[in-house]
Amino acid sequence: MSNAAVPATQDHGRSDGPLHVAIIMDGNGRWAAARGLTRAQGHRRGVEALRRVVRAAHELGIHYLTIFSFSSENWSRPASEIGDLFGLLRRFIRNDLATLHRDGVRVRVIGEREGLEPDICALLNEAEELTRNNTSLNLVVAFNYGSRQEIAHAARRLACEVAEGRRDQRLSNFLLWQAAYSELVFVPMHWPDFDKAALESAIVEYSRRERRFGGLAAKTAS
Ligand code: FPP
Repeated sequence: MSNAAVPATQDHGRSDGPLHVAIIMDGNGRWAAARGLTRAQGHRRGVEALRRVVRAAHELGIHYLTIFSFSSENWSRPASEIGDLFGLLRRFIRNDLATLHRDGVRVRVIGEREGLEPDICALLNEAEELTRNNTSLNLVVAFNYGSRQEIAHAARRLACEVAEGRRDQRLSNFLLWQAAYSELVFVPMHWPDFDKAALESAIVEYSRRERRFGGLAAKTAS
């Protein structure tokens, strides 16, 4: 039943909303099947939902919006669907980058770049370079991303740095790691239907949660 998950990682001093919202844009295929459409059409509608939600996140004062757009497991899908998803990413960057930049959005891309087609890497670099000094919303695009892969890479890199004497600190990590003590909101909706109202109601649900971070509730502790 749950299709979009919104882990909100930490507060930023405001009582009313999260600093970071991360979304699994799930359900494009089921949304399309329910309407007799192709999966590609579902993904295209997913991009429209993404545009809406980026705007909404900006309006709602969210600082970081992370979207899961292609996972390291998605390579097991048919080549035609992979081609569609890569095509959508290309079009999204070509068509929307100027607007994102104008709106002060900083784009960052996480995930494995090695093995991606050179033109995709160039577009990802262009998006990051153009927007690197922007300060409104941080849009983090997880592309060819997997948490395990990321943790393994980070551990390898750190091991090298420690071995070379360049670092003696502990690990810092990303989503799976950050998901510890995050609030997860499961939205009974396919991603292409997701909109500002859905984002707001997820934030309302988040704000009602009692966050204990492994400790005791405030009233119990005092
Ligand atoms: C999951 O739905 C969604 C994906 C694997 C891709 C999400 C991608 C987009 C919304 C568009 C491309 C992204 C960018 C940044 C332009 P699913 O296919 O697993 O749906 P299902 O579970 O109903 O089959």
